[in-house]
Amino acid sequence: MNLICYQRRADHSENRWSGQQKPDWMLGDGLSFSKRLIEARKQMLSGVRSVASTQPNALQLHSLRPMRIIIEHDPESASNRAAEIISSLVQQRPSCVLGLATGSTPLGIYQKLIARHQNHKLDFANVTTFNLDEYVGLGPGDPQSYRFFMQENLFNHINIPPENTHVPDGRALDFDSYSIQYEKSIQEAGGIDLQVLGVGGDGHIAFNEPGSSLGSRTRLKTLTSETVKDNARFFDDIENVPRLAVTVGVGTILESRKCLLVAFGEHKARAISQAVEGPVTAQVTASALQLHPDVTVILDQAAACHLQRKAYYAEVEESHRLLEK
Ligand code: GLP
Repeated sequence: MNLICYQRRADHSENRWSGQQKPDWMLGDGLSFSKRLIEARKQMLSGVRSVASTQPNALQLHSLRPMRIIIEHDPESASNRAAEIISSLVQQRPSCVLGLATGSTPLGIYQKLIARHQNHKLDFANVTTFNLDEYVGLGPGDPQSYRFFMQENLFNHINIPPENTHVPDGRALDFDSYSIQYEKSIQEAGGIDLQVLGVGGDGHIAFNEPGSSLGSRTRLKTLTSETVKDNARFFDDIENVPRLAVTVGVGTILESRKCLLVAFGEHKARAISQAVEGPVTAQVTASALQLHPDVTVILDQAAACHLQRKAYYAEVEESHRLLEK
């Protein structure tokens, strides 16, 4: 009997074989075959990354694997999962570069990282961090500033050297040259290994409001009235919410080696379904993550409630778990 086998390679090209016996790449059971495919894909991704580090735009053109969607029961278990991903990177690469976010979403993750530092001595001595954004006009001592938030909720409780932490300066005198300098510092640190992201109700990441260019870099951004309203909960009075922020761009975020998008609550469900299952559009800047080759999305049930393909994501996760065993 003549066998005809097709191998779909990770770059979508096909390898056709015909003969009496299975070719080498067909030998073994389905699981080990899948494992070999995953290995091949990992090798290919590391190759693409090294090209991408010299040619950043290459990252934006290739969607090499779908987003990994992890749906946990509640914010607590979702935060645990996210903290696990960050901790294992810090353990594997003690001098890694983390991109960090503010807002209520990452608070639980930061508490878990602090606990891991205190109980398991997770070591941040060589870690470098870059935050996504800062309100214009607020200094580091202002309790509403993102620098203050990061000190209070993470940096003061772990052993990261202060000089390794970077939050954009909301009181820079010349924002154009400051923004260029911020991008340069990220590059000089070797680029961001893992970017943690929350998402705004309108689907923005960092402060890249709807309409931001998907290739945008660090710059000043005017906040929408929806964002001002959303973020008023952190201020005494909505009048005190700054209307301007300095934020890294969508293009800056897409250059991170890995992105971790986290969202909890039904108020994020629409933004999540648009970001994950909608078209890639500057009107929902989180949707640009579909162009990134390595994105993990961690949600609680409520934030996942509008996703159409929940059952499929669960099956994919189950396969991941089997393959990781
Ligand atoms: C702000 C921040 C974003 C954050 C968003 C959601 O707009 N610039 O980085 O993701 O708020 O915040 P929360 O997690 O509080 O919902």
